[in-house]
Formats: sequence, structure tokens, C-alpha cells
Amino acid sequence: MDRADALRRQILDLVREYYAVAHAPAPFVPGTTKINYAGRVYDDRELTNLVESALDFWLTAGPYGQSFEKEMRKFFGAADFLLVNSGSSANLVMVSALTSRMVEGRLLPGDEVITPAVTFPTTLTPIVQNGLVPVFVDCELGTYNVDPEAVAAAIGPRTRALMLPHTLGNPFDLGRLVPLAERHGLFLLEDSCDALGSTWDGRLVGTFGHMASLSFFPAHHMTMGEGGGVIVNRSGLNRAAQSMRDWGRDCWCAPGQSNTCGKRFEWQLGDLPAGYDHKYIYSNLGYNLKVTDMQAAIGLAQLEKVPDFCARRRANFRRLYEGLRGFEDRLLLPRSLPAADPAWFGFPITVRGGLSRLELVRFLESRRIETRLVFSGNVLRQPGFRDIRHRVVGELTSSDTVMNETFFLGVYPGLTPAMLDYILEVFAAFFAR
Ligand SMILES: Cc1ncc(COP(=O)(O)O)c(C=O)c1O
Repeated sequence: MDRADALRRQILDLVREYYAVAHAPAPFVPGTTKINYAGRVYDDRELTNLVESALDFWLTAGPYGQSFEKEMRKFFGAADFLLVNSGSSANLVMVSALTSRMVEGRLLPGDEVITPAVTFPTTLTPIVQNGLVPVFVDCELGTYNVDPEAVAAAIGPRTRALMLPHTLGNPFDLGRLVPLAERHGLFLLEDSCDALGSTWDGRLVGTFGHMASLSFFPAHHMTMGEGGGVIVNRSGLNRAAQSMRDWGRDCWCAPGQSNTCGKRFEWQLGDLPAGYDHKYIYSNLGYNLKVTDMQAAIGLAQLEKVPDFCARRRANFRRLYEGLRGFEDRLLLPRSLPAADPAWFGFPITVRGGLSRLELVRFLESRRIETRLVFSGNVLRQPGFRDIRHRVVGELTSSDTVMNETFFLGVYPGLTPAMLDYILEVFAAFFAR
């Protein structure tokens, strides 16, 4: 074992040396270096954690996965936290869990879930995939979130849940939507995939709803390559959520463990013979949405950096905001509500005064500045979503505006002051033409 320890130390020293040589940042050359809208930001800690987990060769979610889940439970003060393999999977787990027989007052096919028309596709698809009916409401320009009054107006006799994203990290009106959900006995699911570290009245978003989702894709606030998480804020929901993640099984043992419940051969469920092993009892139509331990190992190193990442996102946002204020007659700049302190995912801009989004975006892209659209725009105009069963309440006017006139820039921690200055110079050049 001593020999193995010595070799391990040697390997990790080499990895640190390799990181310093092979991952050294290239100098920024304005107009030549591509300014990505997002990307992974890391140092040798992520690399050494990844190699250590590879040397452990646990492979499936194991010790690193369990540590990560524990740290996240602490971070959010949550009843539970489940690591999954993407933000999309986190949304799938949340919505599917609400349909489980393990949940009191579960959602039934045909029940309605209110959600915005401006969305990320996999915020919406689990609703449809579970036989539920999405009820679409418009968003507000500037915040790009749902208007609480539009949500209130959309509640009908079959409405059972709200599935609401904090668009681009900007908290939706939790002050009005949480009490609205409570008054009507609705489940509230927060899609916080873009909003890790954003707060409302000083409290982290993701802690308000019954459950909330996170994404750890490289564009997000922290990454493990592919990954996501379900924050469970009501203890009655965690078994259903875990079961949906873990093949639909009834058993909740961690990988490699048996008999956590202490009565492995004494359960009597369904039409199963007496003594049927609890590990092989399936109470839900579930999935396998787990991660590998290598992903969790990277996530643990990233997690330590989240406060700094979020501070840098906020600072980059402020710098762009101040720099673009002079163009407010042509650009609608983003805004957040007074109680919100967003750790922005991006910097959304809606062009106005007859300005062409395409022209501006082409100008930026041709000068190596990456841009993105606000995901689906009005999702009902997307080819895959045109024929889904749904209800619309009110006009989707702003959703159409987002589809036609909105885009976003990056604010991720990899952007340097020199890059941000260059972005602002390019905007000035565009408007000086
Ligand atoms: C709001 C929102 N929800 C869900 C997702 C899906 O996350 P993932 O890419 O990890 O599946 C994304 C991805 O960017 C997102 O922005």
C-alpha cells in the first residue's frame, strides 16, 4: 500500500505540473481571441480530483458522489439533495416524482402545470412526457420571468403545480408566487438550473419550492461536464425523487449497500411473493439518471469556488450594464426585482427602436463575441412542440418579442476586464456606424 500511496502522490504531482503547462491561459487578443459566452473555469484541483477518482476506480456514484450530495444539502439547508446526470434529468426527476404513488396528492394524467412559453425545452418536456398538460403564460420583457398576475389568471380547476424557471439566473417574484402556490395548494417546482447562488431577500433560490433543479453543464455556474441536482425541500418527496432517479426501485440503499431499511426480505408490496428482495421491488416507472464518481469528484472541487464564481458573474454583469446604459434608446437592458440579487447566467438584451437583432448579433459574432438566444423563444413555435396538448392563458406577445428581438451575452467568470472592455468598444463601434 505504501508503494501505491507513493505512486499516487507522484501521479498527482505530475497532474499539477501538467495543468500548469498545458492549461495555462492564452493571452487575450482583441478581435482574434473568441470571447465565449460561457465555459468551464477550473484549476489543478479539478484535475487532481478527477484523476484521484479514476485511480479509486469506483466508477458509478460512490464516495465523491455522497460527499457532494452532503455538501449540497448543507449549502442549501435542504431536506435532501440528489445528484443526477443533467439539469434536464433533474427536471424529469422532479416532475415524475410528483406523479408517484409515494407522494400524497400526486399529479394524475390530465392535471395542469403552469409554465412560461419562454423556456428551456427540458423545463417543459417532463410535463408532457408525464401525461400532464402545460398551461402557458407570457413573460415580462426585461426580467424575462412570468408575471404573477398572469400565473394567477391561469389557475383552473385541474391546475396542480407551477414549474417556473429563474430565467438566466434572475429570480422570479417569489414574494408573490410562493404565497399564490400555497393559497391554491399547488406544488411549486423551481428550475434553478441557471440560478445557483442567486438570492431572494437574502435566501438562496432553490430553497423556496417543493423541489428545485440545478445544471452542472459547463456553461453553468459550476460544472462537472454533465450533471445536475435536485434540491428537495419537503422530506416527504425525497423517496419518490430518488426512486425515479434509481430505476424506479422502492429500495433507497446507496450503491454497494444492502439492507439500509433493516427489513430487506420482509416487505410485502404489489403482487410479489413473500420475502422478495427489496432491492428488486419497483414502485415507480423510473429511470437511471445517476452520475459517475468522476463527475462528482470534479463537482466537489468546483463547489468550493461557487461564491467567487457568483461574485464575478455579478461584477461582470454590472460592468456590461454600466457600459451599455448609453444605448438604452436602442437596447432594453435587463432588470431584476428589488428583493432579487441574481448571480446572472447571462446578460439579456432586447433590441428596440427598429434595430435588427440579426444585424447586431452578426456584427458581434464577426468580431469574435459569442451570443446566444433566450433558449426556445415562444416554445409553441418550435417544430417539436407545435402539436403538444396544452392551454394558453392570455397573449404570448412578449414571448414572441423574445423570440424575435432578444439575445444574451456572457458574464461567466472566465471573462476578464479586457474582454468586457472590448465587448463595450464593439457595441460603441456598431452604434457609431
Ligand atoms: C433553465 C434551464 N433548465 C434546464 C436546463 C438543462 O440542463 P442540462 O443541459 O444540464 O440538461 C438548462 C440548460 O441550459 C437551462 O438553462
